[in-house]
Amino acid sequence: MRYCLIGCGRVSPEHIRAAQKNGLEITGLCDTVPANKEENLAFAADALRGVPLFADYRQMLRNARPELVAIATPSGYHAEMALDCIEAGCHVIIEKPIAMHLTDAQKILEAGRRKGVVVANNLQNRFNPAVQMLRRAVEVGRFGRILSATLHLRWWRGAGYYAQAAWRGTKALDGGAMMNQSIHGIDLLNWMLGSRPKTLTALKSTLVHPIECEDIAIAALRYDNGALGSLECMTVMYPGAQEETLQISGTKGCARLGGTAGHVVELWRFDDMEADEEALMRERYGANPASVYGHGHSLLYADVCRAIHEDGQPLVDAQEGMNALSVVLAAYESAETGKPYMFA
Ligand SMILES: NC(=O)c1ccc[n+]([C@@H]2O[C@H](COP(=O)([O-])OP(=O)(O)OC[C@H]3O[C@@H](n4cnc5c(N)ncnc54)[C@H](O)[C@@H]3O)[C@@H](O)[C@H]2O)c1
Repeated sequence: MRYCLIGCGRVSPEHIRAAQKNGLEITGLCDTVPANKEENLAFAADALRGVPLFADYRQMLRNARPELVAIATPSGYHAEMALDCIEAGCHVIIEKPIAMHLTDAQKILEAGRRKGVVVANNLQNRFNPAVQMLRRAVEVGRFGRILSATLHLRWWRGAGYYAQAAWRGTKALDGGAMMNQSIHGIDLLNWMLGSRPKTLTALKSTLVHPIECEDIAIAALRYDNGALGSLECMTVMYPGAQEETLQISGTKGCARLGGTAGHVVELWRFDDMEADEEALMRERYGANPASVYGHGHSLLYADVCRAIHEDGQPLVDAQEGMNALSVVLAAYESAETGKPYMFA
């Protein structure tokens, strides 16, 4: 399948590796700063020799004729680029967040349906092996009735991170600890609970970093079934014991995934479990992968290829991306108005 990538920045190596692992034919790359491609994709220089680099993605769509395009540019550009790719008849993988505004996400969803193309949002943590195990436990009802769900994203981002590019931490193009770093975990809570919350109340602040958006935020959530949840999202956890923890507890069991990005089983207890199950789970899912991403991009690409070949839906489709975005935007609104947000 003919494949192109828009945006050859920090996350682009994950996309190129995923494209290679899934046997895609890379027919074009696009970046407005050619040096970024040289720097970030040097590891694949041999494989990418002869692949044209475009400064204008629309020209790339015309000349390189991709069937699948991945968009890994600053978040505020995702919507316009995705809509152009879909209009050109391409399947798309859009880095997270799917867009910055719900109206744009809705346009992407509708355009994808109208053109009959696959639209996926790159929330790859769903493919972490420990997360898949957690989801299976939810699906077969091992938690009983879920009572509580929490996400803690306690990361440190230094001045160097925000200085890497002018778009970071801006309202128009990025967002803060919730929109950028925590949207993966927010998506996981939606997935585990089977829906986004019914209501939420949030607080946010910018305490340390010289950015427009929040570097710390918390939220209290209430779900349809009465379960309560909480979010704690920060990039101010100095000096950087990076932790992303997801905990679910119910009437028949509880589980906690931790580590840098929910890769590590820390707690695994159910009424119906074998005596050694928790020890086995902690052994099998006991360490962080070498990279915070694990193999998530590659597995998400495999799922998108499956959806394209089967004429089906990817696991993280536009609707799922929009659901995660809607929780972040609801938290922003609640924090700004000082009032609870009720989903319609
Ligand atoms: N899924 C994940 O875990 C994950 C991880 C990191 C970043 N991201 C997302 O990926 C996106 C990119 O993040 P990054 O850290 O790679 O940023 P980055 O700033 O390192 O890279 C963005 C690249 O896009 C290029 N670009 C900007 N405008 C462009 C245009 N009009 N046409 C073509 N190229 C253009 C820039 O020159 C730059 O090389 C963001 O949306 C971010 O939220 C996702």
